[in-house]
Amino acid sequence: MSTLDALGRPLHDLRISVTDRCNFRCVYCMPKEVFNSQHRFLGRSELLSFEEITRLVRASAQLGVRKIRFTGGEPLVRRDLEQLIAMVAAIEGIDDMSLTTNASLLSAERARQLRDAGLERINVSLDALDDATFMAVNDVGVPVVEVLRGIDNAIAAGMRNIKVNMVVKKGLNEHAIVPMAKHFHGSGVILRFIEFMDVGNHNQWQHDSVLSASEIHRRIHRELALENIDPNYPGEVAKRWRYCDGGGEIGIIASVTQPFCGDCHRARLSAVGQLYTCLFASGGTDLRQVLRSGVSDEALLAQLRALWSARSDRYSEQRGRQPSGTQPLQFRPKVEMSYIGG
Ligand code: GTP
Ligand code: 5AD
Ligand code: SF4
Ligand code: SF4
Repeated sequence: MSTLDALGRPLHDLRISVTDRCNFRCVYCMPKEVFNSQHRFLGRSELLSFEEITRLVRASAQLGVRKIRFTGGEPLVRRDLEQLIAMVAAIEGIDDMSLTTNASLLSAERARQLRDAGLERINVSLDALDDATFMAVNDVGVPVVEVLRGIDNAIAAGMRNIKVNMVVKKGLNEHAIVPMAKHFHGSGVILRFIEFMDVGNHNQWQHDSVLSASEIHRRIHRELALENIDPNYPGEVAKRWRYCDGGGEIGIIASVTQPFCGDCHRARLSAVGQLYTCLFASGGTDLRQVLRSGVSDEALLAQLRALWSARSDRYSEQRGRQPSGTQPLQFRPKVEMSYIGG
């Protein structure tokens, strides 16, 4: 029986961060000034083990979770990730698994191992097609070709419905919108444009740096005509459009200008076992401590049910409707993107 939260929303997706580390230093996510040698990354013993993660997924599946997304940081830096994927694939009730990755570590062999473990699709982050812009974003000198090779390796390994996520920030990469659209047009890869969000505490977000979904749509549509298509399922994050010439589909994720909290059915688990009920939460619930205290399966399930039932988060909707003169919501401390995986 599915459990509803305080606003009547079921729990359907669990996003699992498997590490807080990443080989990139994207300027809007892990800026070098903050994530440098002085930064304390998590130690191995702090991370949830694969057995602990699997136990939480099993309990969540009993509450209604059907879809699992593995994130980071960069999930492919977690050793033996394929083992975890195989363990999660075997859990009754889980019918969709995916991974959000920068794809730079996705060798042909790794892609095959992931596919063999049961991973059928991935979402790849790529913010431009020209090296100058992409390197200015990732800030570690990785060229575009390495990411494109990762995508090719995933396709060769038999993965399907691959998506590419492009975060659009005004003044940073907006000139790459149309080249990206043209590049992936007709390729079978679904390109999605994401409005720049105020996640974490270090990305210098300002409303002025958001290029709206309607403007993104306008810039593509005048080059390659688009028509709207229905969501794949209620609460899908991206609005879908298809090219009128049959060149496939794109998505636009408008979490700032058209928030979708009303249908939000996602919970997030950090690498140390904090459960967050919103991407913009200030705090989570320490499930690692619960697991390590020897809790029974029944008590764990009851705790998860109570947590979800009490949930009333709708940050993006609230941020969009703040009365003037109040302390802006976006300045409240929030969990870091690299801890929660987006
Ligand atoms: P699919 O299952 O393939 O549709 O993936 P997804 O879009 O749910 O996940 P992905 O990791 O590719 O995320 C795409 C973008 O949507 C990222 O910028 C996420 O941070 C953002 N996103 C995903 N879920 C939410 C959410 O619940 N709220 C907000 N505000 N943004 C979200
Ligand atoms: N706004 C929107 N999307 C972001 N991502 C990372 N930081 C932001 C941000 N500030 C994206 C990544 C990845 C996904 C999980 O979230 O590029 O594709
Ligand atoms: Fe790494 Fe993704 Fe963050 Fe870039 S956006 S630093 S690739 S976790
Ligand atoms: Fe869900 Fe929070 Fe995103 Fe709203 S802002 S859609 S509640 S994660």
